[in-house]
Amino acid sequence: MSELIEKLKTIESDTEKRLLQASTLAEVQDCKVRILGKKGELTKLLAGMKDLSPAERPVVGKVVNEVKQRLNRSFERRSGEIEHQEREQRLREERLDITLPGRPRHRGALHPITRTFQKIETIFTGLGFQVAEGPEIEEDFYNFEALNIPKDHPARDMQDTFYIAEEVLLRTHTSPVQVRTMKKQSPPVRIIAPGKVYRCDADVSHTPMFHQVEGLLVDRGIRFGDLKGILEIFLHRMFGEDVGIRFRPSFFPFTEPSAEVDIACVICNGKGCRVCKHSGWLEILGAGMVDPEVFRSVGYDPEEVSGFAFGMGVERIAMLCYRIDDIRLFFENDLHFLSQF
Ligand code: FA5
Ligand code: MG
Repeated sequence: MSELIEKLKTIESDTEKRLLQASTLAEVQDCKVRILGKKGELTKLLAGMKDLSPAERPVVGKVVNEVKQRLNRSFERRSGEIEHQEREQRLREERLDITLPGRPRHRGALHPITRTFQKIETIFTGLGFQVAEGPEIEEDFYNFEALNIPKDHPARDMQDTFYIAEEVLLRTHTSPVQVRTMKKQSPPVRIIAPGKVYRCDADVSHTPMFHQVEGLLVDRGIRFGDLKGILEIFLHRMFGEDVGIRFRPSFFPFTEPSAEVDIACVICNGKGCRVCKHSGWLEILGAGMVDPEVFRSVGYDPEEVSGFAFGMGVERIAMLCYRIDDIRLFFENDLHFLSQF
């Protein structure tokens, strides 16, 4: 028995010495396994306990437990010391300068055209309009023919576009969505249709690709006064109550009567500049009462229903909202410009 206890003491003091020399966590772990592991020295010693007499066993057992507890504490202490040293060393080596300023993160923002779309949509959905969509690559039929613009009609000259095939083109306005919606759905209809359109156009207020929002309302007994009322509500919510608005008689083959609406130029306060072509006004939309011919082409009865439609230029509206004097700025992707929104 005393031999066993002697051995225990030796194991303990040897282990303490070895632990002091250990300089990494792996070495400590190694040491632990060598003593307390399945085939460790202490474990092997315990196997010899079965040869002791029943009276000796509890005495030796007590010593074994005490040694085990002390060793476990030593392993933990040494691991803690080494972890601490390693952290100190890392900090010394990394030369972390916590006084350096942080790197700023550049946050993106919505494009001004997207923001203008959202504003327009919010106002019209608030008035009970639903949002409809149509393709940008459109058939001649929907873009022109069904809108009462036959092949040789002079109105086609003002809307020259990019042709993909003889009867397939990039749409020149969002008005084809009127036709597509009415062909799918019977009256009443109350939609807006935002989207991209294309024309052979380029100057300070025209780009070859731009955006429109179409509007269409069809029901029984709709009159021109309803069109004027809805547009006035919209323009006041968009530009404020005291914005200058002008309704002008105009012509579109798919509306009768037709009008165009101008907003007093905010760039020059109506004095005249290159944006408003020195007229003091900027045209933002075309509108009118849906022509009976259009109703017939989609299978609606013009004796039963009437309605109005409008199509507005989103860039023009954004120019007036944000006082931008050149439409091309929207599409140059210059961050100096875009980061202002
Ligand atoms: C049309 O496109 C008609 N479809 C509008 C309409 C719809 C009338 C429903 C009646 C009923 P217009 O070609 O005038 O009309 O264009 C409408 C608006 O789009 C213009 O008032 C203008 O604000 C804008 N616009 C036209 N061409 C360009 C362009 N190249 N670049 C930027 N905006 C443009
Ligand atoms: Mg026009």
